[in-house]
Amino acid sequence: MLGNFSYKNATKLYFGDESLQYLNEELPKYGKTVQLIYGGGSIKKNGLYDEIVKILKDNGKEIVEDGGVMPNPTVEKLYEGIRLAREHHSDLLLAVGGGSCCDYAKAVSVSVHCEEDPWEKYYLRFEEPMCEILPVGCVLTMAGTGSEMNAGAVITNHAQKLKIGHVFGEEVMPKFSILNPKYTFSLPLRQMSAGIYDIFNHICEQYFSGEDDNTSDYIAEGLMKSLIHSSLIAVKNPEDYEARSNIMWTATWALNTLISRGKSTDWMVHMIGQSVGAYTDATHGMTLSAVSLPYYRTIMPFGLKKFVRFAEEVWNVSADGKTDETIAEEGLQAMENWMKQMGVALHIAELGVTKEMINGIAEGTILLRGGYKTLTRQDIVSILEKSM
Ligand code: NZQ
Ligand code: ZN
Repeated sequence: MLGNFSYKNATKLYFGDESLQYLNEELPKYGKTVQLIYGGGSIKKNGLYDEIVKILKDNGKEIVEDGGVMPNPTVEKLYEGIRLAREHHSDLLLAVGGGSCCDYAKAVSVSVHCEEDPWEKYYLRFEEPMCEILPVGCVLTMAGTGSEMNAGAVITNHAQKLKIGHVFGEEVMPKFSILNPKYTFSLPLRQMSAGIYDIFNHICEQYFSGEDDNTSDYIAEGLMKSLIHSSLIAVKNPEDYEARSNIMWTATWALNTLISRGKSTDWMVHMIGQSVGAYTDATHGMTLSAVSLPYYRTIMPFGLKKFVRFAEEVWNVSADGKTDETIAEEGLQAMENWMKQMGVALHIAELGVTKEMINGIAEGTILLRGGYKTLTRQDIVSILEKSM
């Protein structure tokens, strides 16, 4: 049964290889000063920076440069963004990049007019914004997080060894996002694979929970099948527009709140992965892939029916004459083979985790209760040890 819910998605999307022109339609809706947020320079190399600056100038905008957003944006960078927005009275935060730029823009948006410390308020106390929120727009260059159409914003505090995501309300979602699959062509292969696994795991986190018959799980299976199909094409030919456009669109639907409506969700792979990220600063999707198989093998007996369904529906495992346990394990085996084809990390040691870090990573993991088994700290230690 589907539980009760409300649903609204506040982000307007422009999709396709000519989508950047719609920036001209969006910009007049906002004031003169645009804070241009970008990462470590990929948009300068591929020419997107110049195109966007031209459009901003043609629209009479003043540009506040806010580059250098690092993967896994830090709290120090957040303070810098807030300072820039206050100093220049930014009217629009325009993020051009992947999830890190888009998340960072959202974190700045709720903090510019906030009198309290945003890290403590939003990330340690999980409070909601009570202040004016600056509008955010996004030009996406990497498919993965779904940040382009959701209200999540993950920030890392290295001093406290914490990486925490706050999922805000719909008022924090980007007002618009521009999705041109061609922009993802210049991604290094490793980042493309990390993004693909991130998408897949977002779907799993919402799928592996609950036992009800609901439409969300059928949508989730369709998204997983499309992603597996397109990812196998894209690893061989990264410039296959059809595959890259399907991957980009799947990423958006995987985490724009649709497939979690009316059902419980898990999110423990992300909680463990984020804590691994706080210690190693590793690529987000790789922190997930490296802990996933030991995690799913741990919880499988507690959600066996769903793992059997996953094996049959997503991986076409034949059930003939097999026990449920065998079918479920064959499903995870098929997933593991696909992960190897994608070239994602399968061990946290390769991301820089040492034995000495394991207890701290387990301590820093937020424990959620929506999955098939509520984990103890000892379970997390054991999953981390198996992930080494
Ligand atoms: O910084 P630049 O030079 O742009 O390079 C980036 C970065 O090094 C590069 N890149 C992006 N687009 C490119 C490109 N390089 C060449 N060509 C392009 N077209 O890729 C690297 C990674 O970018 P990043 O934005 O960090 O990746 P991603 O999109 O995976 O975002 C990761 C962040 O999002 C958070 C993660 O925790 C992490 O902090 N997440 C946000 C979520 C949300 N808002 O709902 C959910 C996710 O689960 C995730 O936690
Ligand atoms: Zn993720």
